[in-house]
Amino acid sequence: MTVTNALSVAARTMMAEPLAGGRFGEFGGRYVPESLVAACAEVEEAFREAWSDASFRHRLERLRAVHAGRPTALTPAVNLSAELGVTVLLKREDLAHTGSHKINNVLGQALLAHRMGRRRLLAETGAGQHGVAAATAAALFGLDATVFMGERDIERQQLNVFRMTMLGAEIVPVRSGSRTLKDACNEAMRHWVTAAHDSYYCVGSVMGPHPYPWMVREFQRVIGEEARAQCAAELPTSVPTHVVACVGGGSNAAGTFAGFVDTDARLIGVEAAGGAAMTDGTAGIVHGYRSRVLQDEHGQVAEAHSIAAGLDYPGVGPEHAYLGDIRRARYVTVTDDEVVPALRRLARTEGILCALESAHAIAWVLRAAGTADLPTGSTVLITLSGRGDKDMPALMATATR
Ligand SMILES: Cc1ncc(COP(=O)(O)O)c(C=O)c1O
Repeated sequence: MTVTNALSVAARTMMAEPLAGGRFGEFGGRYVPESLVAACAEVEEAFREAWSDASFRHRLERLRAVHAGRPTALTPAVNLSAELGVTVLLKREDLAHTGSHKINNVLGQALLAHRMGRRRLLAETGAGQHGVAAATAAALFGLDATVFMGERDIERQQLNVFRMTMLGAEIVPVRSGSRTLKDACNEAMRHWVTAAHDSYYCVGSVMGPHPYPWMVREFQRVIGEEARAQCAAELPTSVPTHVVACVGGGSNAAGTFAGFVDTDARLIGVEAAGGAAMTDGTAGIVHGYRSRVLQDEHGQVAEAHSIAAGLDYPGVGPEHAYLGDIRRARYVTVTDDEVVPALRRLARTEGILCALESAHAIAWVLRAAGTADLPTGSTVLITLSGRGDKDMPALMATATR
């Protein structure tokens, strides 16, 4: 079945609310200890109420404009386009305050936490971008912030750890398991059980128990909606033929796709080859939701690996699992070895140093341009989810010249 044939009515409208119980097809749901069921229900009720309140939306819109610097630019990658024979447009989430798309979601959740009367934000972080965004929003709203982070990520993302400290957040190092994002999520959820009365769990991607995958996508929808209007002004065809974004938990991709799901654009999510839950995962439960998950033969969650700290997560947002099942979106992988050259190529052709996560999307476009996957003459929107400052120490370690 071609993607175009698969654009059924369901596929074009699935980006509305999830089904009963927070399901996207057979994925999603709320698989949490009993003590957290009420906490999730409270967040859901508060979000529904806030999202239908014009004053909440207005405050969020204003915060995005005056604090986060939205709308972010759409930059035509003129030199790269000429080299590849496809028109490349970059949605510049790297230009948002704090350096990535994570701020969109966090401003929404912090505003909600404040409305709910909570005094502390709990967060988990991998690359540190969500932690920095959470620490930033907490400072802005006068809330405390506690950020759980794997020891390995603390080592490789020292710049962001220091930024969080400067912003007044408490960092809790997580020493269990692979000492990365998966373990930080486990610890944050464990802590939430004891702190739900006064703390708000600010989830960093379209993952976790209902309502988080839906709510986070709604807060990230701004990427796709802005890009849709900007593409309409930029392209004679109005809508690009391809829309490409990297996928860790999947929030920048979900937000981007939300603006194009009702069009004929091909939606492509790019995973790290070592953390490819869509490609290599099987149905299972992780961190309170059902989705595609990397698992061993005993059903234990397996470890993921990526040069990009934000992509080495063994699960993927449930809506992506659904979009993959109904073939509305396609998920592909790129290896660590392709990512650094892709980052350098973008830097040298366009003068933009993007995050290693975002370079996954660039790497796929470099590989696919001129093939049946991305024919010459295509128009491709790529979401640059973040800027590369945090990755410079890692790149300095691998630089050959
Ligand atoms: C810059 C950047 N891009 C992408 C991601 C992956 O997250 P998501 O798939 O939720 O967009 C991260 C996660 O930390 C990130 O920091």
